[in-house]
Amino acid sequence: MLIFGTRPEAIKMAPIIKAIYKDDRFESVVVITGQHREMLDQVLSDFKIVPDYDLNLMKTSQTLSSITTGVISNLDNILKNDEPDIVLVHGDTATTFAASISAFYHQIPIGHVEAGLRTWNKYSPFPEEMNRQLTDTLADIYFAPTTQSKDNLLLENHAEENIYVTGNTAIDALRYTVQRDYNHAVLSNVDKNHRLILLTMHRRENQDGGLKDVFQSVKHVVQEYDDVEVVFPVHLSPVVQNIAHEVFDNVDKVHLLPPLNTIDFQNLAAKSYFIMTDSGGVQEEAPSLGKPVLVLRDTTERPEGVAAGTLKLVGTHADNVTEGMKLLLDDVDTYQKMAQAKNPYGDGNASEKILDAIHHYFE
Ligand code: UD1
Ligand code: UDP
Repeated sequence: MLIFGTRPEAIKMAPIIKAIYKDDRFESVVVITGQHREMLDQVLSDFKIVPDYDLNLMKTSQTLSSITTGVISNLDNILKNDEPDIVLVHGDTATTFAASISAFYHQIPIGHVEAGLRTWNKYSPFPEEMNRQLTDTLADIYFAPTTQSKDNLLLENHAEENIYVTGNTAIDALRYTVQRDYNHAVLSNVDKNHRLILLTMHRRENQDGGLKDVFQSVKHVVQEYDDVEVVFPVHLSPVVQNIAHEVFDNVDKVHLLPPLNTIDFQNLAAKSYFIMTDSGGVQEEAPSLGKPVLVLRDTTERPEGVAAGTLKLVGTHADNVTEGMKLLLDDVDTYQKMAQAKNPYGDGNASEKILDAIHHYFE
């Protein structure tokens, strides 16, 4: 039983579901919590996945407690009636943690996809760092994307025989989405001779000041450079929507869009000059696409991308963000180095490795 609820979980669970459809050893039950609605449905539609259960929980401006308690109480009957052999959860969201504790209450083994990511900072990213740590405490089998995430799990004394290094299923997903002859309406509104920056930003810890500071910096740089445009598909969180529109409405060269379908977003990323983001998943995809990323956070649980040279942490202070943008725009050597880094997140076959690991675990 695969349980997930938000856009990034769906994108990274989708290749596993597709792999199960082709594998006689397994049957899948897909449960979506509906922590997200439109943004989750976009992914299900792109990957043609029809869930078996939909808890349909999302509320406008929902709280962490309301999502967590909603998931736990609504999963009870499903877990009791379906009695899956294993529950798979992904990553670090409220859905991930709540589904894990529900499975534990029913004494069902838990497989954690994308296990072992750590900043070791309880409040950064908040609440994701603790969601991961708590999920790993409850899990029975760990699918670590890299050896570094495996090492983090070993540091916490998880048994080595239950940890499998698989790569990240984000890279598997790119195999379904990135197309050579892709086009999108927004591209016809961007001057072909201009450099396109793709921006996304939504994290809770950035909502109290960080978002606004970054957006102001982006606005000033875009106004200073004649040949730069920004495409920003804005997360549906009301806080993010309000700040984005407050700063960018009437700025000609910043294109605000609704959240994009995965296929659209990942192909647009492939066409961008560079990316600015506080997203986790985008940090994993960019090295595969050869795109430098300015990470709009003070910490990252994706140090492999920093070591590879694709990711640069710039935080959210205006001066640092502006300096990071100008360096990439002005210094060709820095740009080339970041664009040519090697993807550290696997070969695009993580889903098959995860299924083999589950088979091995039960044997
Ligand atoms: C959640 C995850 C975060 C992940 C992000 C991916 C937690 C605690 N946070 O944060 O780890 O990075 O998803 O995007 O689990 N909304 C809609 N429609 C949608 C989705 C969201 O309107 O399809 C609005 C709703 O008003 C909702 C708000 O966004 O209340 C916030 O959604 P929520 O899932 O609570 O937080 P995210 O910031 O999306
Ligand atoms: N993404 C998308 N449409 C968008 C923005 C992002 O499909 O408009 C994809 C992106 O390719 C990545 C994932 O969503 O796979 C990242 O999700 P998000 O930033 O919401 O969450 P995080 O990864 O930070 O948890």
